[in-house]
Amino acid sequence: MALDLSTHSQRREERILHQPIFLQEILAQLVQPGARYVDGTLGDGGHAKALLAASDEQSKLIGIDLDTEGHARAKQELLLFGERVQIAHNTFANIDEVVKQAGWESVTGILFDLGMSTHHLQAERGFSFKNQGVLDMRFDPTGTILLPEPTEIYLKRIARKISAYTAKDLLNNLHEDELADLLLTYGEETFAERIAGGIVQERRNGDIDSVPQLTQIVLRAYPGSKRHGRIHIATKTFQALRIAVNREYETLQIAIKKSLEILASGGKLAIISFHSGEDRIVKHRFRQAAQSENFTLLTKHPIKPTFQEVKSNSWSRSAKLRIIEKNKSK
Ligand SMILES: C[S@@+](CC[C@H](N)C(=O)[O-])C[C@H]1O[C@@H](n2cnc3c(N)ncnc32)[C@H](O)[C@@H]1O
Repeated sequence: MALDLSTHSQRREERILHQPIFLQEILAQLVQPGARYVDGTLGDGGHAKALLAASDEQSKLIGIDLDTEGHARAKQELLLFGERVQIAHNTFANIDEVVKQAGWESVTGILFDLGMSTHHLQAERGFSFKNQGVLDMRFDPTGTILLPEPTEIYLKRIARKISAYTAKDLLNNLHEDELADLLLTYGEETFAERIAGGIVQERRNGDIDSVPQLTQIVLRAYPGSKRHGRIHIATKTFQALRIAVNREYETLQIAIKKSLEILASGGKLAIISFHSGEDRIVKHRFRQAAQSENFTLLTKHPIKPTFQEVKSNSWSRSAKLRIIEKNKSK
């Protein structure tokens, strides 16, 4: 079925829905007759809607998202597909369980469009330094879905005390060297130590709990000459905390492993990443699967957005798409 993409994106603009990236590339790779899709990062349902609209009536989709606040918008977007769609409040690290619960034996196409949606940037939940709000940053606002065990020892310690910890919990409970390590590991922040020092100093006046408070700490820690670069100086600090809070690297590793297991013969896994840390995980695991397991890499080099896509959707600027296929049984 042909899809009118211009009308589609105009409608999204009016309703400020998340604008899906690499739509044409994903449709070209994942759509097949009688498909069983899992959109592991359903968001506002943009990719899911396009996938189903481009597929036959027998095709079905399970949408997973940790953020219950987005479910209503996605449901609305996908209403016309009726029972061909199921929505699950879960982490995509549990993709195997979700698929099993739906009674599916395998999946023909899986998509992970990592990170935040437009909704998170607008919400006052700590994701964006441009907003007011509390320093929460959990994708799951209910805190009820069990996330994978964090890798870092200091995060394991916090997780034992507060299982669904927030950014505020990390900022107020980690030691200075641990904060510096977190900012370096997950944010590749050059001034990690100075920012960690600033956080500990600020804590002497009481808990750090607001977005502007953290942004000010970063600003004070940055040397004057470095304050006006291409990206906002608080970007890496906010990114690092979000990755740690949501255990994004641990989740991705588990999810890729499980996805490769549940793919049908000829099934494909597509992942859109937005920064080097997550792209490295995808690149290495896909390469390994193509070298020593029964898979073919469909993107030797990642697909990057066209000039046109970046122009119409600046969010796509740093996006990379990698796709792998389970070899067809002979
Ligand atoms: C970039 S948005 C996806 C947008 C979506 N493709 C669309 O077209 O609207 C990423 C979504 O993944 C969700 N998410 C992040 N980590 C998750 C996880 N571990 N499990 C399930 N959903 C997750 C976020 O809540 C967010 O809604």
